[in-house]
Amino acid sequence: MATEFPALNVLINNAGIMRPENLLAQQPDLVDAEAIVTTNLLGPIRLTAALLPHLQKQPRAAIVNVSSGLAFIPLALTPTYCATKAAIHSYTESLRYQLRGTPIEVLELVPPYVATHLMSGADDPRAMPLDQFIAEVMSIFKTQPTPAEICVERVKGLRFSAASGKYGVIFAGLNEARPDGH
Ligand SMILES: NC(=O)c1ccc[n+]([C@@H]2O[C@H](COP(=O)([O-])OP(=O)(O)OC[C@H]3O[C@@H](n4cnc5c(N)ncnc54)[C@H](OP(=O)(O)O)[C@@H]3O)[C@@H](O)[C@H]2O)c1
Repeated sequence: MATEFPALNVLINNAGIMRPENLLAQQPDLVDAEAIVTTNLLGPIRLTAALLPHLQKQPRAAIVNVSSGLAFIPLALTPTYCATKAAIHSYTESLRYQLRGTPIEVLELVPPYVATHLMSGADDPRAMPLDQFIAEVMSIFKTQPTPAEICVERVKGLRFSAASGKYGVIFAGLNEARPDGH
């Protein structure tokens, strides 16, 4: 890839899958859990490792890891998904620290619930419309210096729930109203 695109200086680790899992009735081979970890966590770790040598040679470069508001409070219906996003947050913090003093900026994009095809949000009126999300994210990317975490207004309740003392209330609100009972 570096040979074909020598000027490549941005890696966005965006690919992800989200699947519901009932932990009391798992598939014996844990196929969903393994697929989620492989895509959401190992994928970014592998891509970062593969491209770091190339990115280090650029005058300026950036790695953008896409986590989730659910990294900070889990939706219990999707346990492995939320665990991988919490792991991506942690990994990103370590990566940023290790790359301090290099030309590579490490950013974390923390989306709220956005209307995409990730699980069932595309037609859900509670999800943030995709065009609004993109516009707000792009305006944050343009601010100088760019914040280490890109958080649109809608995700700040989840992101800062522990700091605001509202973790328990938001956890209950997120999980207890679910009709599927998970
Ligand atoms: N939408 C939300 O509410 C929300 C909230 C928080 C975080 N996020 C995160 O945002 C990121 C983008 O999700 P999205 O909402 O845009 O969902 P999406 O519409 O389902 O897009 C997911 C993307 O990931 C790609 N992908 C999945 N598995 C892959 C694999 N094994 N190899 C390569 N590409 C793969 C898909 O490619 P194909 O189309 O080719 O399958 C697709 O382009 C994800 O990391 C997600 O966890 C989304």
